[in-house]
Amino acid sequence: MGYKLISTWKMSYHKMGEVKRMLKKKYSLQEIIETVITDVENNPDFHSVGFGGLPNREGVVELDAGYMDGDSLAFGAISAVRNIKNPILVASSLIKDRTNNYLTGKGAEKYAKENGFKTRKMLTKKAQEKYLNKVKEESHDTVCVIGKDLNGSMAVGVSTSGLFMKHPGRVGDSPIIGSGFYCDSQIGGAAATGVGEDIMRGCLSISVVNYMKQGLDAQKACERALFTYLERVNNKPDEISLIALDKDGNYGGCSTLEDFPFVVLDENNEAKLMAYKGKEKRVIETDDQWLANYKGD
Ligand code: GLY
Repeated sequence: MGYKLISTWKMSYHKMGEVKRMLKKKYSLQEIIETVITDVENNPDFHSVGFGGLPNREGVVELDAGYMDGDSLAFGAISAVRNIKNPILVASSLIKDRTNNYLTGKGAEKYAKENGFKTRKMLTKKAQEKYLNKVKEESHDTVCVIGKDLNGSMAVGVSTSGLFMKHPGRVGDSPIIGSGFYCDSQIGGAAATGVGEDIMRGCLSISVVNYMKQGLDAQKACERALFTYLERVNNKPDEISLIALDKDGNYGGCSTLEDFPFVVLDENNEAKLMAYKGKEKRVIETDDQWLANYKGD
């Protein structure tokens, strides 16, 4: 069984296509996941991740990221950090110790600076203009990547600038283990994107992994986790999307949205842009017509 990767949103499609060539070389799964996520973080055109992310209500960009290694179950996470160029790299570096795995705010920034991670002014002119005009952008938030390598080792990484106009210090699901991400190489990995408060209430990533543990494949586990939760909360949340990859290499995606794009990649095929159609409750492979109609990131 070979490499398999799944990532959220169209914004990860380009880089997922490029990392195909890394799969045949001696890159670690961590390096591949970081490559996809840092590409999205560095792109100023994406307003929900990294550089160019939309600011909080005081006009400051605060970023969250998480990473988990599915072999050891080690994880690292940071939240509410300002002016850190690549939050995912800081989060993934935190998996190495037994404690201090999740750092927040000034403490996380101090760690990043002391350990040589690059800083950058993360507020772009465009993001500032949107803030000053209080433009309500449709939120397409978190970039999530789950991968499985040739040895069956699995990992997941996530990065986001969170909700536009959030309260300073507000932290969503993304850096919270079990909510925004979870991965166990013996079972599979899952990650979430959408309104963090709704995702945290259902601890949705661990919920997907638990359904895979019961024997459901990745697609069925995503559906069971999302629909069971929606029923419990009377179908209130309308912006939750989930992706998963099980230990056998099956992928899954599910969403409350009409169109939730995600990308799948293995070493034998080019990256494919898939979409979960919320109304029809099914996954499709996108085509040119879909792409022409889709307005999101
Ligand atoms: N899902 C990202 C957030 O709510 O911050």
